[in-house]
Amino acid sequence: MNARLRPHEPIAAAMQSVYTLRPMTPADLDAVAQIEASVYDFPWSRGNFADSLTAQYHAQVLTDETGTVRGYFVAMPGVEEMHLLNISVAPEVQGQGLSLLMLDALVLLSRADGALLLWLEVRPSNTHAVRIYERYGFYPIARRRDYYPSVDTHGRASREDALVMSAQVGDLLLRRGLRPA
Ligand SMILES: CC(C)(COP(=O)(O)OP(=O)(O)OC[C@H]1O[C@@H](n2cnc3c(N)ncnc32)[C@H](O)[C@@H]1OP(=O)(O)O)[C@@H](O)C(=O)NCCC(=O)NCCS
Repeated sequence: MNARLRPHEPIAAAMQSVYTLRPMTPADLDAVAQIEASVYDFPWSRGNFADSLTAQYHAQVLTDETGTVRGYFVAMPGVEEMHLLNISVAPEVQGQGLSLLMLDALVLLSRADGALLLWLEVRPSNTHAVRIYERYGFYPIARRRDYYPSVDTHGRASREDALVMSAQVGDLLLRRGLRPA
């Protein structure tokens, strides 16, 4: 079955695909940490994900028809806001619109949580992710200097700025045609 989403297709349609979202549990941590290590030069540790569960952040895994974890996101609720901390898709299933499926879930979850504002940080060098967020409806609001660990062109330890992007939850609901329950 083709899981590719059209840009404005809401999550209800996405859920007709073979993929399912459910809350992350401790039993998912090995699979999540394995994907994490395969998609980032500076990955979160397994412990970072375990801490997120302990802190009761919103953490969801995306599973395929065999129940295998193929992606995940972690978001920290705040006062009338939601901070997306991590969103990742396994390399072998990237490019099928699965990030949109997870972003839609995040928006609905934010709405259910009473969050008015969604925000995230992204490396400016991660142009693929920046473009996805922009098309989705996020806009840049700030830059945090030397936020991320990095390596310079000589392979020496360095730092990279973070681009802070934000969006109103209500705007994203409208833009994506999502209807809160
Ligand atoms: C970034 C990442 C999560 C994207 O996941 P993905 O499932 O492969 O992405 P998708 O297939 O959903 O991409 C959406 C596509 O729809 C396009 N698109 C079209 N209309 C869109 C819309 N309205 N909204 C969003 N995307 C739209 C996007 O540009 C993108 O096309 P492209 O792949 O040709 O650039 C994934 O590449 C990943 O895990 N990367 C490593 C980890 C990472 O960088 N995470 C983000 C850190 S901030």
